[in-house]
Amino acid sequence: MAEIGTQISKASRLLENNELVAIPTETVYGLAGNALEPLALAKIYTTKDRPSFDPLITHVTNIADASALVHTFPALAQKLAEQFWPGPLTLLLPKREHIPDVLTSGLDKMAIRVPNHPMSLNLLKQIRFPLAAPSANPFGYVSPTTAAHVDQQLGAKISYILDGGPAHIGLESTIVSIEEEVIYVHRLGGIDIEMLRTFGEVNVLPHTKSHPDAPGQLDSHYAPRKKIIIGDLELLLLKYSDMKTGILSFSKIYPHPNKSIALSPDGDVHEAAEHLFSALRTLDAEDIDLILGEYVPQKGIGRAINDRLKRASFI
Ligand code: TXA
Ligand code: MG
Repeated sequence: MAEIGTQISKASRLLENNELVAIPTETVYGLAGNALEPLALAKIYTTKDRPSFDPLITHVTNIADASALVHTFPALAQKLAEQFWPGPLTLLLPKREHIPDVLTSGLDKMAIRVPNHPMSLNLLKQIRFPLAAPSANPFGYVSPTTAAHVDQQLGAKISYILDGGPAHIGLESTIVSIEEEVIYVHRLGGIDIEMLRTFGEVNVLPHTKSHPDAPGQLDSHYAPRKKIIIGDLELLLLKYSDMKTGILSFSKIYPHPNKSIALSPDGDVHEAAEHLFSALRTLDAEDIDLILGEYVPQKGIGRAINDRLKRASFI
């Protein structure tokens, strides 16, 4: 198992030696390495069992550091960065030549954001190079929202996990690109589209079975190992009454012989987002055959929750 601690100097030493460190962010924990060193980037891909065609997100401390990595930073992208950084918004911007191709899987654009977590911001300031950090989970599985989640799956492969407490948003960042003043959403996430719409026209790109430039858009992703079926819980409970099921509800608490989790008994979508991934992990570890779930209200961050539920249930 990895050492779990709060020593930023230890994390920076490891990163300077091209080692990987798991870091906290406000969205989910990331598996970080030097974004400018192909050796560290190669370790990220192998540690996650991530296919080489799935590019990584780069983390920096501020807009100026982001600008130093990209060719152009359109005015609308700057406005979004000023509004939402540090925070759960990732911008796709054309990378400069010195950025390793392995970081972007050969694409011209790189994904970049400023995470809103004091520990990781302090770390970034100390090392003075950008950090590539995909979610710290094996490819395709549910993202980690605590240091313990990271340790459970990647603990044997990395030496240090920086513990910044539970991620308070609980879902990954929203990924956008800008083309001719239009905002294209590549992945729904922590910044909701209602907020983006105050900046201009917003287009949400559909998922595909094999989207060449954004595997986070794959139909099946963010999935627990157990089968999960989403629908009307009352009907699903009748239909699967002869099976050992667990329940993942939005707010209603179900008396149920096996495990039942309500994401937010108060019916708050933000609280539901915060609890979603750890609830999926808990249910995945239960002695049940099937997880039954329901969609949450399709508004604000609720859209991103429903997106993850849909893809977790896709076979
Ligand atoms: O909240 C987050 O974004 C977290 C934290 C750690 O920052 N990171 C995260 O990274 O979710 P990851 O690698 O699990 O998801 C990044 C997604 C992938 O689906 C990848 O395909 C997409 O971003 N992506 C990265 N670079 C891209 C690019 N140049 N063009 C299109 N999609 C890109
Ligand atoms: Mg991920």
